[in-house]
Amino acid sequence: MLHAVRLFALVIIVFLGLLWGAAWLGRGEGEGVADSFIRQAATLFGHDVPAPSAGGVQMPQGLVLGGPFSLVDQSGRAVTEADFAGRFLLVYFGFTYCPDVCPTELGSIAAAMDALGEQAGRVTPVFVSVDPERDTPEVLADYVGRFHPQMVGLTGTPEQVAAAARAYRVFYAKVNRPEMTEYLMDHSSFIYLVGPDGRVRSLFRPNTDPEAIAQAVRGQLRGG
Ligand code: NI
Repeated sequence: MLHAVRLFALVIIVFLGLLWGAAWLGRGEGEGVADSFIRQAATLFGHDVPAPSAGGVQMPQGLVLGGPFSLVDQSGRAVTEADFAGRFLLVYFGFTYCPDVCPTELGSIAAAMDALGEQAGRVTPVFVSVDPERDTPEVLADYVGRFHPQMVGLTGTPEQVAAAARAYRVFYAKVNRPEMTEYLMDHSSFIYLVGPDGRVRSLFRPNTDPEAIAQAVRGQLRGG
């Protein structure tokens, strides 16, 4: 029985991996891989493409994101989802060498935190690196401090990072450009609003207005 459950989980993981691949290959002109993923996932689950709203993108029914992870924070301490239990999180996956997208999105999270005022005390902004090779705890400590005093930076072994990214269906890959000495990371770019149970409540596309993020967080805080 247990074996069957494990096998089923494996099938789901492989399936979602393939879906990300399909989203990557099948994205339309100018369409982000994340948007493409949602569109294809929604179609597969027999739903219409969810419309973006002030509350962020609603999850297609049956699609669960988030869950357990095992990583290392910016002080070098091992942390799991249990360390954040009971708190709301604004989670973003990226890398500190990112020239533009990551700083923009982390800036939006910081602005949303500021807009929340006192209520921000119940929310932890979390930056998870998809580039553990370069993003050591020391590098992260310096980086997250530039955005928000409450921001937590997480990294880990390549396997730990891969597992966390899988739980959030985050795609990432190393990219070498001939004209650049340093590699870049291609990665999906969503801000996740995670509830006290560790599950993603809603997600925000790149360039979402920080006030819209704050609004969605307020709504979730009211709901508990
Ligand atoms: Ni980036």
